[in-house]
Amino acid sequence: MLDEIARVGRSAQTGGYRRFAWTAADHVLREWFAARASGLGLEVTEDRVGNQWAWWGDPDADGPGVVTGSHLDSVPDGGAYDGPLGVASSLAAVARLRAEGFEPARPVAVANFVDEEGARFGVACAGSRVLTGAMSAEHALGLRDADGVSAAEALRAAGRDPAAVGRDDETLARVATFVELHVEQGRHLADTPHAVAVGSSIWPHGRWRFDLEGEANHAGTTRLVDRRDPMLDLAALVLAAREVAEATGCVATVGKVAVLPNGVNAIPSSVTGWLDARGPDEDAVRALVPELERRLGVAATTESFTADTRFDPDLAARLAALLGGVPVIGTGAGHDAGVLATHGVPTAMLFVRNPTGVSHSPAEHAEADDCEAGVDALVDVLRELAGPAAARPGAGPGRVS
Ligand code: GLV
Ligand code: MN
Ligand code: MN
Repeated sequence: MLDEIARVGRSAQTGGYRRFAWTAADHVLREWFAARASGLGLEVTEDRVGNQWAWWGDPDADGPGVVTGSHLDSVPDGGAYDGPLGVASSLAAVARLRAEGFEPARPVAVANFVDEEGARFGVACAGSRVLTGAMSAEHALGLRDADGVSAAEALRAAGRDPAAVGRDDETLARVATFVELHVEQGRHLADTPHAVAVGSSIWPHGRWRFDLEGEANHAGTTRLVDRRDPMLDLAALVLAAREVAEATGCVATVGKVAVLPNGVNAIPSSVTGWLDARGPDEDAVRALVPELERRLGVAATTESFTADTRFDPDLAARLAALLGGVPVIGTGAGHDAGVLATHGVPTAMLFVRNPTGVSHSPAEHAEADDCEAGVDALVDVLRELAGPAAARPGAGPGRVS
């Protein structure tokens, strides 16, 4: 399945994947997901937001059920595993359980969340945020991509009705427990004997936009003293972000900029820089941007903020023990699992070893044996959570909210 997914949306120039929400590549992968899930005998539905759910059993009659899955979209020039590993492993685990003749005591589903990376419209985990009401439909539909196309227009072009988009309690009521398997995006496991870990928490993180204004003018004829060059403010922002992050135990990244008019021989009229900041201490992350605003004398716009996220500790401990005492680790990467956990859904994550830790890059990797170990772990987890003995602490169907 990973080989099939790997053919879609790959840039010949960089070898990375460009699979942005509601584009042609995304559409091909959504069709692939529906076909693969249907081929397993699952019933594929789409919620009000565009997340896909493939059910084994009827969650309305016999639910709520156990859901596993991830996402198929990517960052610009992303790797082959961030998202696809979770979706493919979920389908593989369900295929194995069905082949074994496992009879779930409650429905089981595989989910493909839409627009997890927020690469096109700017807000990560857009599919789960709107699903849970963490982001309003109005806000989501008004977001625009780099070409000025709104999410509402993109949905319409993809044959969806923007008016139908919104928090979807009917879909959420079907979910007792959610488990997301994901390639590890660090090196916790790289030098250990463990191919798999269980997730404990996600660092608080956010995205901010700095709009830096200047005055366009000729690069050859404008004296340095006469310039209002916003590129200098961007340089100051990048250096200050690094300095403040270092001083406060955070990480901060300016990975995306837009320059107008973007001509080599023109002083820019404006530069926009996007800041991604995260860290273990929520107060430190929250304090970082006001400090940068003070230093630059510019107000930033918050595009998203996600508070400290803790996965259900009883469930994490139970799954770590079930898997033979694997490590329980935190992460600095955001996930739909975090949004669902914050909403009150008992949620767990499984991480699969990444030998270099590199992610959000074509160099992202997981060995085939480790991917298999991930599927084995997910099979055990689904058997445990959807099997007849699931009425123990940390197991569904008891939703918290
Ligand atoms: C998503 O992968 C994120 O952490 O930005
Ligand atoms: Mn990612
Ligand atoms: Mn991901």
